[in-house]
Amino acid sequence: MSVQIHPSILSADQVNLAAELVRIQDADAVHVDVMDNHFVPNLTMGLPVVTRIAEVSPLPLDVHLMIEDADRWAPQYAEAGAASVTFHLEAAQAPVRLARELRAGGVRAAVAVRPATPVEPLLDLLSEFDMVLIMTVEPGFGGQSFIEGTLPKVRRLRQLVGTGPLRIQVDGGVSRSTISALAQAGADVFVAGSAVFGSADPAAEIAALRTLAEAPLTA
Ligand code: DX5
Ligand code: ZN
Repeated sequence: MSVQIHPSILSADQVNLAAELVRIQDADAVHVDVMDNHFVPNLTMGLPVVTRIAEVSPLPLDVHLMIEDADRWAPQYAEAGAASVTFHLEAAQAPVRLARELRAGGVRAAVAVRPATPVEPLLDLLSEFDMVLIMTVEPGFGGQSFIEGTLPKVRRLRQLVGTGPLRIQVDGGVSRSTISALAQAGADVFVAGSAVFGSADPAAEIAALRTLAEAPLTA
């Protein structure tokens, strides 16, 4: 399956989001980080803003919920127009019921794990999900350094799922210097916030990240 680059608008100009979306047109989706200042110590946007982004965005929305009570809120982000909704395993009471509800609502269902959360509890349930997000920093902020110790988790999950339809997404500290190792380990969906929006030429940065991520496949 082809690799995907999802720029995170957490690092974009928050009062010019429509213009920022134009700068990442070559990406595969836009990654939208929703934080509630409870699950993570930061606060971003909620349903009204995500709904409006979905209306104006030329790219599909990859919504990453870093919020408590995911069971209650995630389906509303599906209704808001997301293409995929990712909730945290640590924040869901009934992850399988929630994934089924999301899929029934016509969106892709994804589950995220923090760096210290193992993926093993999910192994018998992977067919319920379209994507697993392995956080490669502690969720909450952009611009943090990649946690090297998350690589074996990506590798183990890839070994288990092989070339099946499940996508493995990584988020946090993804840049030109870390993306090759992540791709080599088996990730195929890459979120990059500061690397893309911190660049003077986001389109060129997306292209460079894509080339590096594809390299392990052609090697
Ligand atoms: C962090 C968010 C990320 C963030 C990544 O909790 O989930 O999506 O935007 O930012 P960078 O790419 O700068 O690490
Ligand atoms: Zn994210």
